[in-house]
Amino acid sequence: MTKLRQAIEVATVALAEAGIDSASTDAELLAAHLAGVNRGRLAVIDEPDADFFRRYDELIGARSRRIPLQHLTGSAAFGPLELRVGPGVFIPRPETEALLEWALAQRLPERPVIVDLCTGSGALAIALAAHWPRARVIAVDDDATALDYARSNAEATTVELVQADVTVPGLLAELTGSVDLVVSNPPYIPAGADLEPEVADHDPAHALFGGADGMAVITPIARLAGGWLTPGGLFAVEHDDTTSRKTVETIENTKLFTDITPRRDLAGRPRFVTACRTKEAA
Ligand SMILES: C[S@@+](CC[C@H](N)C(=O)[O-])C[C@H]1O[C@@H](n2cnc3c(N)ncnc32)[C@H](O)[C@@H]1O
Repeated sequence: MTKLRQAIEVATVALAEAGIDSASTDAELLAAHLAGVNRGRLAVIDEPDADFFRRYDELIGARSRRIPLQHLTGSAAFGPLELRVGPGVFIPRPETEALLEWALAQRLPERPVIVDLCTGSGALAIALAAHWPRARVIAVDDDATALDYARSNAEATTVELVQADVTVPGLLAELTGSVDLVVSNPPYIPAGADLEPEVADHDPAHALFGGADGMAVITPIARLAGGWLTPGGLFAVEHDDTTSRKTVETIENTKLFTDITPRRDLAGRPRFVTACRTKEAA
């Protein structure tokens, strides 16, 4: 066994003892990050020097203290994208890729207008802009640190970033009746939920919690989306796996949507609801 393989095996044990389910994946990803190669190439690289092993020990120590893997590598995969992330911004999750996949499968006009509410690092907005290069994509978040990450991630795109609170009724009134697709992965965890240390200690609380029932941001977003969407325009919002019914009811209560459909994430949990703006006047 090579010295690198041995170090990865020792690291895997340490991470598993720290309670990390993905111990062997994380041990390999951190080694690959340090070596500057893809994980698949670890088996074929030259034996690293002593400095590599010292820095690897430090990274494994930090990961054992439950610092998120993505904060240690500085990036997070989201669909086809690698996004810059770090302290102060929500790490995009695989759960949200289900909403992205749904959105990418929709038929939109040639030059659609798309809004991503609560954009964080810009994940959904940037992925949608890459798929519809002629779209106008507007991404909204109220947090300056999140928007700094989004700005850096969206540098080579035409995504427009707006700093605003999406719970304010009548926000961006100039968009009324003109948007083809609104997507959102807002804060939605009900207060008091039990969370892994990586989430509780490192994702901003402002990005996680949606009030006592998890609906504090989803409810105003449904109204905003209803006001902005063109007749037949589409809406998709992610929610906690315990609040699918409430999210459907919230969207129904606006009386602005049809085809309100609860959907599941890639792990089969209820995760987002999609809806279509009614064609008749509200
Ligand atoms: C769960 S994170 C999602 C980030 C991104 N959509 C993603 O999927 O990776 C929620 C985001 O909503 C933002 N946010 C929370 N409350 C907000 C509000 N009232 N108005 C605008 N943005 C808000 C937070 O700053 C955070 O970036």
